Amino acid sequence: MKKTALITGATSGLGYEFAKLFAKDGYNLVLVARNENTLNEIKQSYSNIEVTVIPMDLSTPGAAKEIFEKVEQKGISVDVLVNNAGFGLMGKFDELDLKKQSNMIQLNITALTELTYYFLPKMKQRNNGRILNVASTAAFQPGPLMAVYFASKAYVLSFSEALVEELIGTGVTVTTLCPGATKTNFGAVASVENSKMFSSAMSSDVVAKQGYEALMRGKRVIVTGGLNKAGVLGAKFMPRSLAAKISKYVAGEK
Ligand SMILES: NC(=O)c1ccc[n+]([C@@H]2O[C@H](COP(=O)([O-])OP(=O)(O)OC[C@H]3O[C@@H](n4cnc5c(N)ncnc54)[C@H](OP(=O)(O)O)[C@@H]3O)[C@@H](O)[C@H]2O)c1
Repeated sequence: MKKTALITGATSGLGYEFAKLFAKDGYNLVLVARNENTLNEIKQSYSNIEVTVIPMDLSTPGAAKEIFEKVEQKGISVDVLVNNAGFGLMGKFDELDLKKQSNMIQLNITALTELTYYFLPKMKQRNNGRILNVASTAAFQPGPLMAVYFASKAYVLSFSEALVEELIGTGVTVTTLCPGATKTNFGAVASVENSKMFSSAMSSDVVAKQGYEALMRGKRVIVTGGLNKAGVLGAKFMPRSLAAKISKYVAGEK
């Protein structure tokens, strides 16, 4: 029987690339995002696997439960959960729209947490399951000018690493993907395309493949790209006040 991967944020960027990688390995797909037309177009592009699309705004409270119930009603068993959907915003915290920042917390943190909560028990029952949570190199230090985004990704990393320990011996693995700047729609959505942090952005297919391979190996954390690995290592050893100053500099225009 074919396995099934549920991927959030599957209409563009990393999520779109993850879908291709799972499909190539024969997985059936459950694809979640807001844009129903794009989801259906993507569904049409696959012929030899089953693709279920669930149009959903994950920044709406209760969205994760609704997705879980829809998947249950369809009798689909989710073997791999990819919590990928997320967005960022550039600007000073008090000058950015509060509603947008609350939506970001709901999407980047709450939906990811709740989807994990709903899909984990059956994975444990089967003694088999894989979860890929997409964080960022932003998870490793404070991010002035993207304060809520960086904090949301620190949550994703901390939450996921804690689960790894809780799940030892259950057959369920949790992998956290920490990309640096990557060429997707993220840059335009967050208005960070002209920032220094985007001067050496990686391509989305390369980043997704590294994340996918780490997931399949059950690796705990994967930071993509040599420069990003060096940056993360540096941030671990410097005072957080200095790391925050560097983040602020890198968030500035090229
Ligand atoms: N690109 C980077 O530089 C970078 C670096 C580090 C980490 N990341 C992380 O990588 C993940 C994927 O982002 P990406 O770079 O691939 O960006 P992207 O191209 O903008 O893709 C984001 C995906 O999330 C979906 N999405 C956005 N808001 C949603 C909502 N409220 N409800 C449901 N789906 C929603 C979008 O689809 P719809 O618009 O159809 O909803 C889209 O499919 C994010 O968690 C991001 O934080 C990205």
